[in-house]
Parts: sequence; structure tokens; C-alpha cells
Amino acid sequence: MSQPIHRFLHGIFPAVCILFVVAGILSPAAAQNPRWTIGMSQCNLGEPWRVQMNADIRKAAESHPEIRVVFKDAQNDNLRQVAHIEEFVRAGVNVILISPKEAAPLTKPVSAAFKKGIPVIVLDRRILGNDYTCFVGADNRRIGKAAGKWIVKTLGGKGKIVELKGLMTSTPGQDRNAGFREGIKGSSLEVIFEADMKWLEPNARKEMESALARFPKIDLVYAHNDPGAHGAYLAAKAAGREKNTIFVGIDALPHEGQMYVKQGVLAASFEYPTGGKEAIEAALSILAGKKVPKEITLSSRVFTRENIDKGGEWLSN
Ligand code: FRU
Repeated sequence: MSQPIHRFLHGIFPAVCILFVVAGILSPAAAQNPRWTIGMSQCNLGEPWRVQMNADIRKAAESHPEIRVVFKDAQNDNLRQVAHIEEFVRAGVNVILISPKEAAPLTKPVSAAFKKGIPVIVLDRRILGNDYTCFVGADNRRIGKAAGKWIVKTLGGKGKIVELKGLMTSTPGQDRNAGFREGIKGSSLEVIFEADMKWLEPNARKEMESALARFPKIDLVYAHNDPGAHGAYLAAKAAGREKNTIFVGIDALPHEGQMYVKQGVLAASFEYPTGGKEAIEAALSILAGKKVPKEITLSSRVFTRENIDKGGEWLSN
């Protein structure tokens, strides 16, 4: 090797490379150099629906190198989620996304962040009051009412019902309950057993065991989410009674509720879209200086054995 080439390969060239790497020129992550940081606080990642929400957020953000999303998991702990919001404020993120565990404990930190001028997008479960920039979610009252009406029709106006409620200190639990009661009003349906299963399948299974022990006849279980409906089904199956009961849930994830409907485990599942994509779109609008609506209401479908192959049916108003 000639002297100048040798000197280039062993001396100047590596030095220049190191310089480029340090400057971030050869590093793809740094090359993107996101201009904005979005902090996302998820109340838990123990449930498939929430994993899907984060995946939807990640996917929507992927095509926007100008943003970076920092994800945090509160592990179903309000205090941890309060700390997330405070950390995001201290770190000076540009937008906060939050899917809160419960309304009351998260209201104060969200309000404080909002009042400091940080835009806050609340997803799926609400906080109390109006101190947030935008709420993204489907109308749980409407879903509950549609479920009630569907159940009245399916049972011919009468029957014995078990209602397994979502966490009643979270707004979807309250709305899915109130909407359902509105939907069955005037019928002869009788709610013979109700319990708060806090959105969790093992709790739903236990509550259903109690209901089965107390009531020889249960025509239908209305659960506020599909894991709850599935837990109830498992309890009924263990008691050899699953064939005499109809199970209805909410969420309709393709690999969860929709699959249960296909398998004949659930008679119906009402879709609850995650809103992940819409939340990123709203964040991008805010960052571009545009005004976003206070409420972004997502539509929902019902999936039944009859319509699932056609992609379900949209709920009417
Ligand atoms: C997941 C979940 C969903 C439900 C939603 C309501 O944590 O329980 O099953 O639709 O939360 O906020």
C-alpha cells in the first residue's frame, strides 16, 4: 500500500467517521432529530385493548419524524399516573396524551398541566371538569344504550340479566351502565345480579361464579368489556351452564371480541375504538398551531354472528 493511502485508511478516514457519528450525521435516530416530544401516559398495559391503543399511537406517529412519543405505563396505579403527568410537565414535553385510570385522582394534575399551557389530549376515559384540550373516544352511553336495545330485541323483551360492570370510578363504566339501563327501559328485562369487575377477566369470572350459585336461570350476561364477558363464559362453562346463557361484551378487538363472536362464545361485541390514530392526528394539528375540537367522538360497530363476515354494522344515533 502506498504511504498516502495507508495514512488515509488508518488515520484521517477513521477520525472523520468518528466525527460524523458524533455529529449524528451517520446515526439514523439523530438524523431524524424530532422537533416535538409527546408524552403518553397509559393507565395499564395488562389488557390487550391498551396494548392495541399504544400500537395505534406508535403506528400513527411512525410516519412523522418530527415527533417523538415517550410512553409510560402506570400499571393500574393512580399515584404512578399522577407522577407521569408531573414528570412530563417538568420535562417540558410539547403535548401530553393520557388515558387515565380513574377520573377523580387524575383531574388535578391534568388541570395543572393544562393551565401551564401544555396541550393535553385525554383518551377513552374522562377526567372531571373541562381543563384539557381535547377528548378522543367513542360515546360509551350510546354504546351501552345500543347494547340494551339489542338485548331487548334478542330476548324478545324479557329475561334475567347479569350485568358485570367496568370500574365504576372510571367514566366508561358509568356510561355503559347508564346507557344500558336507558336502552332496556320499558322492557320486562330484569337485572338479577350486578357487580363491579373493574374491567378484569378474573374478577368477572369470580362474580359470575357467585351469580351462578345464586340463580338457577340466567338468560344473558352483559359485560362492560369483552374480557369480562369471556370470564363470565368460562365460569358458566365450568358449571356446565354456558349453553343456556347468552354473552355480550364491548371492545371488539379483532383478535379478542371479534374472535369470540366467530367462535360462538359471545353473541355480540360492541366496538370500542382505541382512538390512538386520532389522538396523534389531533396532536399534530395542535403542534401546527391549528385549533382542535374539544370532543372527537369516534363511531362504533356491533359485531354479531350474522354480520361479522360483512364487517359488522355501524351503530345508528
Ligand atoms: C381496557 C379497558 C377496555 C375498556 C376500556 C374502558 O383497560 O378495560 O376493555 O373498553 O378500558 O376504558
